[in-house]
Amino acid sequence: MSNKVTILDIQQARAEGRKLAMVTAYDYPFGLLADQAEVDMVLVGDSLGMVVMGLDGTVEVTMEDMIHHIKAVMRGCKGPLVIGDMPFMSYNTSIREAIHNAGRLMKEGGCDAIKLEGGVDFAPTIEAIVKAGIPVQGHIGLTPQTASALGGFKMQGKDAAAAKQIIDDARSLQKAGVFSIVLEAVPAPLGKLVSEAVEVPIIGIGAGPDVDGQVLVTHDMLGLFDKFVPKFVKQFTQIRTIILDAMKAYKKEVQEVTFPGPEHSFKMPAETLAQLKAMMDD
Ligand code: KIV
Repeated sequence: MSNKVTILDIQQARAEGRKLAMVTAYDYPFGLLADQAEVDMVLVGDSLGMVVMGLDGTVEVTMEDMIHHIKAVMRGCKGPLVIGDMPFMSYNTSIREAIHNAGRLMKEGGCDAIKLEGGVDFAPTIEAIVKAGIPVQGHIGLTPQTASALGGFKMQGKDAAAAKQIIDDARSLQKAGVFSIVLEAVPAPLGKLVSEAVEVPIIGIGAGPDVDGQVLVTHDMLGLFDKFVPKFVKQFTQIRTIILDAMKAYKKEVQEVTFPGPEHSFKMPAETLAQLKAMMDD
């Protein structure tokens, strides 16, 4: 992709009715792949805690982890808008610390924008970060960092009052200045209503088709991470099986000495070999 996607492009896409595609990436090869696939946005999500670091959730992910992975993604991902996820407790203790840490993700990581989880309660924090000149993407509905407080990784907005709260969250985030909002794990009709209630693009993950774009965790979408597969995940391939078969084939060929073959081996002129052997006999 030659042209860099901007915040304006993301907002224009909604105005033009063009659906936005966003994926996650955590390293250089996947940053490069997302770039070559010409997706609109790449999220260096704190989901890296689960799908890359093997943790049980996102809570243990640190600022240092995020910066390390954002830097790697940025080396491969030149076209899409890259968003760095604010890890748990990097924005929750004070507005000053939130601005400081959001700035670190951009200055040290090099991403184009940041994302943080939370609704109405986080509007003042978001407003302050935006005022500091940092583009913010919101994240409402199921918020994985506080999933235990929400009763686990469950669909949100089940009853009318809870659904209305999510619409209020979206409105307050828009007022605070977010350029878009991730909406996770809500009934599809609520996804539609949230999208209609605001003007910023709503990027759904388990929010149905009537939103302005979709995001999936790449390792889920490729069938690379299958510890658990949420209902809203479509596995577009089963890359884990392909990789596993390749590794087993490699092991077999190493054991049977069918790898490396002549085409993977460096040659030595017979004369040099003879000289070497003679030298070894000395
Ligand atoms: O961390 C992440 O990957 C996310 C997505 C689920 C949107 O927040």
